[in-house]
Amino acid sequence: MADITRRELLYKVSMFGSLMATGGAVFAAESKTENKNAKPTVLENIGRQHGLVFCILLVYATAAKQLQEKKETDFAALSDTRDLVREYMEQFHNDLSEEKYAMVWLDKANVLTAEVAELRKQHTVSRQLTDRLGVAIKNKQAQEAATTIGQFINMYLGHAAWENGIVFPPVKKFVSEAQYIELGERLLEEEDKLFGKGGLEVVYDRVANLMRRFGIFDLSAFTAKL
Ligand SMILES: [Fe+2]
Ligand SMILES: [Fe+2]
Repeated sequence: MADITRRELLYKVSMFGSLMATGGAVFAAESKTENKNAKPTVLENIGRQHGLVFCILLVYATAAKQLQEKKETDFAALSDTRDLVREYMEQFHNDLSEEKYAMVWLDKANVLTAEVAELRKQHTVSRQLTDRLGVAIKNKQAQEAATTIGQFINMYLGHAAWENGIVFPPVKKFVSEAQYIELGERLLEEEDKLFGKGGLEVVYDRVANLMRRFGIFDLSAFTAKL
């Protein structure tokens, strides 16, 4: 199958993230009154970010497989992926979007405290794993890099599943409708400020480029061979 177009992938990534963040039932219920020109709300923004996060995890998974199978691995591309994890996933998505725009409301309401604490702990562990991966890449330690990436992916799959399915949906109950929309707009502005106008698309280009470098910017690469 030929590469899908940039617009198609961006649409799919955004939709996937939004559905994961809001839950299909909520999304379907709201769609009847949806304003098509409305900017994404805070949880929709986080969901869109998760769409890109999952693409980054696919790049990591591909690199880890190559390293484990002792195949030639593009360490420069892996290093660029690690840099994007630090810049986008950790500094922007985890520390700013989630901790300052979502978790803070759960803190105020004093709900899901154990889960929120564990998610914060995982944000810290994420940085430690990313530091460790940086050393492994610098020293071209294939096994250490593969093990670290494996730990990162495993943690993040559970992490994002809890965020999308359990911890973040209740945030909506603790903010007013106006705040919910305003926070979403502010978050978009933060993204533009950090990554350039149309922040999500700018990061999308970087992710798509990394997927190309690892030969996975093609949906058919993921189809099971029966
Ligand atoms: Fe998180
Ligand atoms: Fe997240």
